[in-house]
Amino acid sequence: MKKVILAYSGGLDTSCIVKWLSEQGYEVVCFMADLGQGLGQGENISAIEKRAYAAGASKVYIKDLQDEFAEDFVLPALKAGAIYEGKYLLATALGRPLIAKYLVEIAHKEKAQAIAHGCTGKGNDQVRIEVASAILDPKLEIIAPVRGWEFKSREEEIEYAQMHNIPIDVTKKKPYSIDRNLWGISIESGILEDLEQEPPESAYMITKGPTGTMSYAKYIEIYFEKGVPKKIDGKAYKLKALISMLNEIGGMFGVGRSDLVENRLVGIKSREIYEAPAATILYTAHKELESVVLDRELAHFKEVIALKYSELVYYGLWFSPLKEALDKFIESSQQYVSGSIKLKLFKGACNAVSRKSKHSLYKKELSTYGKEDKFDQKLAEGFIKIWGMPYKR
Ligand code: ARG
Repeated sequence: MKKVILAYSGGLDTSCIVKWLSEQGYEVVCFMADLGQGLGQGENISAIEKRAYAAGASKVYIKDLQDEFAEDFVLPALKAGAIYEGKYLLATALGRPLIAKYLVEIAHKEKAQAIAHGCTGKGNDQVRIEVASAILDPKLEIIAPVRGWEFKSREEEIEYAQMHNIPIDVTKKKPYSIDRNLWGISIESGILEDLEQEPPESAYMITKGPTGTMSYAKYIEIYFEKGVPKKIDGKAYKLKALISMLNEIGGMFGVGRSDLVENRLVGIKSREIYEAPAATILYTAHKELESVVLDRELAHFKEVIALKYSELVYYGLWFSPLKEALDKFIESSQQYVSGSIKLKLFKGACNAVSRKSKHSLYKKELSTYGKEDKFDQKLAEGFIKIWGMPYKR
């Protein structure tokens, strides 16, 4: 019997996939990654596990990967300053290669021939999982049932689940398609598909809107060491805990919302809203610190790299040679990125108000217009003449 490892979410689609694949003659092993999507919050984990078995799984793996996600996926993207199309901090996109990595690992352990996922044929996530898996093990077969199966609607899937006694909660018809992890939430479909409509407040899950936020401002200080956020207000945290805490604080002050019409890799434009409070706070602080410690050429070149890096992440090329080479460049750019940034959070805004670093390149005696000025203004004349020389006809 052929064995397949399925990326299982516990939802309707992947539960039907378990049954559907076993009807095609596969032994189905389910793998569920905890990336901080709130597993066990709405529904306990054992109920999800039971559902997988009820649908016909022979084994269920559930792994808490939040630390690995934070350290090995989120952190490099933060150091790189990667933001897709100016607004998307890539939470979903960063999670997929990690899921793929474990699908492949478990496939090897279980001696399975194939991996499977529940992504549709219209999105980026299918590309990310399949390309990552192909890079890690080109011999594994990939099955994406949703791209070709017979079900044409949610109702048909519900009917199929009920017919096979798969315990599915059909009472809540979800108004949106949501993907959540530690680094942020992606929300699409439903009313959001209408570009002329403002997203309703109810679409947001972890951030308050401007009218619901605190009426006072909150100051927080983030301390970085070589580009890695280490402390909040002087207290040290492990990265995962630090991110969770900033999600909570940022959410209360309305920080981290974005609304984007984005270009998918598969050629479709789509509208999605995002909530990423911790990511927004950390990107802002990290960039502010870099503005103090990086020289101009490195800072500007790094922006070019950030753009490319965001594309590589979005396009599913996490394990590609270019992405790995860029990581080395970025790592080397971070050697002086140590210091503290104090931010002010207020009604959705997140701005730096104080910057400190022992590696600061800022020299007050050069920039000042006061009497401590040490800049020899006479030197400017010669510099300008030579700088402009090539352009004189
Ligand atoms: N558009 C985002 C991306 O491609 C998120 C995709 C998943 N979104 C969702 N709401 N299920 O990375």
